[in-house]
Amino acid sequence: MSQNFPAMKNDLLLRAAKGEKVERVPVWVMRQAGRYLPEFRAVREKHDFFTVCRTPELACEVTLQPLRRFKLDAAIIFSDILVIPQALGMEVLMVPGKGPTFPQPLKSPEDMERLNHNPDVHKELGYVFDALTLTRTKLEGQVPLIGFSGAPWTLMAYMVEGGGSSTYSKPRSWLYKSPNESKKLLTLLTDTIIEYLIGQVEAGAQLLQLFDSHAGVLDRELFLEFALPYLVKIVDKVKSGLREKGIDPVPMTVFAKGAHYAIEDMAKTNYDIIGLDWTMDALHARQISNAHGKTLQGNLDPAALYAPVEQIAEATKSMIAKFGTKSYIANLGHGMYPDMSPDHLEVFVDSVHKYSQS
Ligand code: CP3
Repeated sequence: MSQNFPAMKNDLLLRAAKGEKVERVPVWVMRQAGRYLPEFRAVREKHDFFTVCRTPELACEVTLQPLRRFKLDAAIIFSDILVIPQALGMEVLMVPGKGPTFPQPLKSPEDMERLNHNPDVHKELGYVFDALTLTRTKLEGQVPLIGFSGAPWTLMAYMVEGGGSSTYSKPRSWLYKSPNESKKLLTLLTDTIIEYLIGQVEAGAQLLQLFDSHAGVLDRELFLEFALPYLVKIVDKVKSGLREKGIDPVPMTVFAKGAHYAIEDMAKTNYDIIGLDWTMDALHARQISNAHGKTLQGNLDPAALYAPVEQIAEATKSMIAKFGTKSYIANLGHGMYPDMSPDHLEVFVDSVHKYSQS
């Protein structure tokens, strides 16, 4: 399926992803669509969270909202990482004040029998593909469109824990007590994600990001056994699967939050871009990424957006000074928080424009 989408007017993101020369560092922000925007809250007053995800017109609308306000260099499709557990047959509720909640988590490995082991990705997640195609068309080439998925470990963590947690002790206990069953679950997730991401590119996604948001509760040894091999299978199979279909592979980003211990391990994979959270050291990551020809993305502390605007501009300037302007995509080190000021985000975005011309 090769579609005729409008020609790109701004491809800074895609060029930076490949390490090509750019006139200015591209900038986008994780969770750039969300509750900090009054226009997003207005949509959410009328529709619940997963209805927005499942209705292409609504998902498209909230994806475009931040682009109307800020000089961003990418759109990221509005969806959630938890649509994969849903596609495998699990119920997920978005409970106000509590976040994602699974009424029936996987309490023991036997519960994996409840899962759909042969999901029809196009049937279960076709609404994401439709949202991507609509959004890519409506963008009119203004900026590239990013697709994404949760990484296998992070999705397993939610499915076993049943929601958010600071320790994820339940899924971590599986890694010690039931390593083989854990790997079965991780493999099912991996194979589903591969099909899902190939479908996203066919539908119009121009770059793909894997969110391993809970990598930080693992140590390097566990990460190398239960997270990285699946991330590697995903990047390799998505790229080869696209080639087999006659489609050019798109750049891929791995964002493993908290995985300080594995920056070099990730730099040795076929991911093009390594996303850094705000606690990771830019200079250290730059040494490693240069040695392996990778682009870096990140990593201003999101909480810096609570500072007075002059301070945000200074912090952004010093962030760019550390990363340099080549092979770099400016972003926060994690997503926007709901109580942040859109005006302060504007200062961050404008400061990247101001301080990164080359
Ligand atoms: O703008 C974008 O970045 C695109 C949309 C996006 C959302 N979730 C929308 C969303 C993306 C890329 C995600 C990914 C996601 N979802 C991650 C990985 C990134 C990360 O934060 O580490 C994770 C862990 C989730 C799971 C999830 N979904 C959580 C923890 C929450 C927050 C719950 C809360 O109440 O704070 C969600 C809900 C969610 N996903 C919201 C948005 C805008 C807010 C919920 C709402 O509108 O009610």
